[in-house]
Amino acid sequence: WRLHAPLIAEINALKAEKQAVILAHNYMTPEIFHGVGDFVGDSLGLAREAARTDARIIVQAGVHFMAETSKVLCPDKTVLIPDLRAGCSLASSITGADVRLIKQRYPGLPVVTYVNTTAEVKAETDICCTSANAVQVVEWAARQWGVDRVILIPDEFLARNVAAQTDVKIIAWQGRCEVHERFTAGDIAEMRDAWPDAEILAHPECPEEVLRAADFAGSTAAMSDYVATRKPRRVVLITECSMASNVAIDHPGTQFVGPCNLCPHMKRITLENIRDALLTGRHEVIVEPALAARARLAVQRMIDLPP
Ligand code: 13P
Ligand code: SF4
Repeated sequence: WRLHAPLIAEINALKAEKQAVILAHNYMTPEIFHGVGDFVGDSLGLAREAARTDARIIVQAGVHFMAETSKVLCPDKTVLIPDLRAGCSLASSITGADVRLIKQRYPGLPVVTYVNTTAEVKAETDICCTSANAVQVVEWAARQWGVDRVILIPDEFLARNVAAQTDVKIIAWQGRCEVHERFTAGDIAEMRDAWPDAEILAHPECPEEVLRAADFAGSTAAMSDYVATRKPRRVVLITECSMASNVAIDHPGTQFVGPCNLCPHMKRITLENIRDALLTGRHEVIVEPALAARARLAVQRMIDLPP
């Protein structure tokens, strides 16, 4: 990524001039993640940083739902997404009208919504969660509402993986991450044969059979922490491809092997379009204020839960 030094220097100078910060997700390419990201991390970490930054402009190096979350948390700041087409198969799997129908069908049950959703969907929600805190949030919601069932939408696999870790019953939706749904238990078996000593970490958006066969399941930040603290000699990260590239730069003592899948939405963000966003102010993310206020309650409730 050091080959991109001139563009990285230009972006870093523009950030200072415009009082901007770049919030970069773990799936950004290494030149973005290591070169220009002011805050890097998982969905939960980036939402927390958005809530506390005093910058004037936030450039979201991630996908559109992440930029909307930043705007919902910081209505007075300018939030830019370098490419408006950076979507997400989970966010596009469900609408606000769908959530209203689910609530009619299950009156009185709390609605927990994965952050990988539009602001319109978050506005219909009681509390958000990420893959880092989904079990904790579901159990909190069941306690607060005094119920034994919780609606957890829209990721079908995250819902099943949470259900396997709690006594709370889960009502799910049929959304899927197009990157993680493609991993199979066969991929893990091949890895075990090829690298018997490798530790296998998988993201909770993967199918249940994959998580059952893996050694550890966690959000992108949890995988990163695992490598930093356990220092495995060899590791497989069952997730998006840039994740291993980014973590490998900080941990030269660990060998990263195995399959990965690219997220075409994340890969729409480039150094070039980040530079253009800072130069031109495009593309500004707008969320209608009344809707943003409702969505904020759900996101803020999640942020305010104790770690
Ligand atoms: P986390 O970074 O919160 O684990 O989410 C992964 C993801 O798929 C975001 O698009
Ligand atoms: Fe959405 Fe999956 Fe891409 Fe994340 S990796 S943005 S969940 S499609």
